[in-house]
Amino acid sequence: MTDLSIKFCSVTFPNPLILPSGIAQEIPQDHLRAVEAGAGGITLKSLTPLPREGYPFPRTIKYEHGFLNAVGLRNPGIDRGLSLVKDFISKVKIPTIVSLWSDTIEGFAQMVQKIAPLNPPFIELNLSCPHVHTKTGAVMSMQSDKATDAVKAAKRYSKKIPLIAKLTPNVEDIAKVAKRCEEEGADAICVINTVGPGMVIDIKTKKPVLGNKRGGVSGPAIKPVAIRCVYDVYEAVKIPIIGMGGITTWQDAVEMMMAGATLVGVGSAVFFRGYKVYGEIKQGLSDYIEKEGIKNLKELVGMAH
Ligand SMILES: Cc1cc2nc3c(=O)[nH]c(=O)nc-3n(C[C@H](O)[C@H](O)[C@H](O)COP(=O)(O)O)c2cc1C
Repeated sequence: MTDLSIKFCSVTFPNPLILPSGIAQEIPQDHLRAVEAGAGGITLKSLTPLPREGYPFPRTIKYEHGFLNAVGLRNPGIDRGLSLVKDFISKVKIPTIVSLWSDTIEGFAQMVQKIAPLNPPFIELNLSCPHVHTKTGAVMSMQSDKATDAVKAAKRYSKKIPLIAKLTPNVEDIAKVAKRCEEEGADAICVINTVGPGMVIDIKTKKPVLGNKRGGVSGPAIKPVAIRCVYDVYEAVKIPIIGMGGITTWQDAVEMMMAGATLVGVGSAVFFRGYKVYGEIKQGLSDYIEKEGIKNLKELVGMAH
């Protein structure tokens, strides 16, 4: 296979395919399956200031064009999470991204302060979960002021650790939000989190299927939205982008990189195709760049502009 390694914020990833946050739930066991399958990097399940039980079942459903989830950020909380993260980054050779979610700016700052001494390769602020709201009732990155305040507060403690702002597509101008995050010190942008929320109703029971009724939409249905968001953000910022949303095949990954993504998240595809999807996409990418005479994968990034 051709060399697929790529630099992102000065860190070399063996290939551009990463596991997005939340696709694997338990740290470390579920995440290790993506490592074994050949992912280039791993984003851990988002940690929150306090443990969260999550929403009632069912929390996830497949529908004909994608996937809906309302897990409700089930996680052990930052204090228990610290030892899990420490263990994970000491064991795993590929870069790890630690994901954090809070409903307040101070919550983000405090969590970054706790995690920074472990010196993880990356910290990602999940500013964009569509079914868990902040105290003000809104998703943080729907309000560009709140998103930038969170980045600014986190940057005070993350210092040299690259900080990634993960944004929601549910805004009027995602490029503007990304630009503001860059100005406040974000080192990279991750787009997109799930779309919606959406809903599926069972016509037999005559009720919404998800325990939480509403859930974030992911998988193939959202790919064109994700491609457009990455394209727009690429035109607005100089920092690198992680693109995700519906990436299932090597052709999707090529398209995402051409839109402007340096790293590509492959999430819901795991539910449809299994963890072997990483190997399949890598092989396709390798064959493609060889056939096209592309020497370095980096040449693909932003090619569509
Ligand atoms: C079951 C499930 C759980 C998720 N949990 C998180 C999470 O904890 N934190 C986060 O930032 N994103 C979470 N996401 C969003 C994904 O990281 C990703 O942004 C989204 O699913 C789009 O990519 P995909 O279409 O490849 O799945 C979750 C998605 C799914 C399907």
